[in-house]
Amino acid sequence: MTPDQIRLLQQSWAKVVPIADTAADMFYTKLFEMNPALQGLFVSYTAEQQRSKLLAMLGNAIGNLNNVEAIVPAVQALGQRHAKYGVRDRDYGTVAGALLWTLEQGLGAAWNNELKDAWVAVYTVLSGAMIDAAKTKAA
Ligand code: HEM
Repeated sequence: MTPDQIRLLQQSWAKVVPIADTAADMFYTKLFEMNPALQGLFVSYTAEQQRSKLLAMLGNAIGNLNNVEAIVPAVQALGQRHAKYGVRDRDYGTVAGALLWTLEQGLGAAWNNELKDAWVAVYTVLSGAMIDAAKTKAA
């Protein structure tokens, strides 16, 4: 991730925060539309708890992009917990699709290819670390 991408991500996240509740609802609706079977994995938390955990984790990641090492252990542990939730590698692609769609809807005119590339870059780093950690644990 380049410094420009980090700046873009932090600026766009600041625009998501005020609409976070709506954005999270849109995200889960889209996700379950893309793959209804995934709904069966979300069993332990209420929608509201899940929403706030997801936003806190993403907010923490976006806030620490200048210092990625600081969040690596937390992201690895998150990946290992996701394996236990029943999340498979391919589900990360579905979540990426729902996330990008939500950002595009939520950010409207502020959305563009440069921003999309920056979000793809951060999601690739996070999901890659989660998937690798899940495999390490499984091995
Ligand atoms: C970068 C990617 C992701 C991030 C940052 C993320 C973040 C989180 C966080 C913070 C939690 C709260 C529980 C915990 O901390 O262990 C959680 C739970 C969960 N996530 Fe994710 N997640 C990601 C990808 C995915 C993917 C690809 C799926 C696949 C459908 C998924 C499904 C779930 C499920 C099923 C739970 C537990 C819900 C429950 O038991 O009710 N997540 N996620």
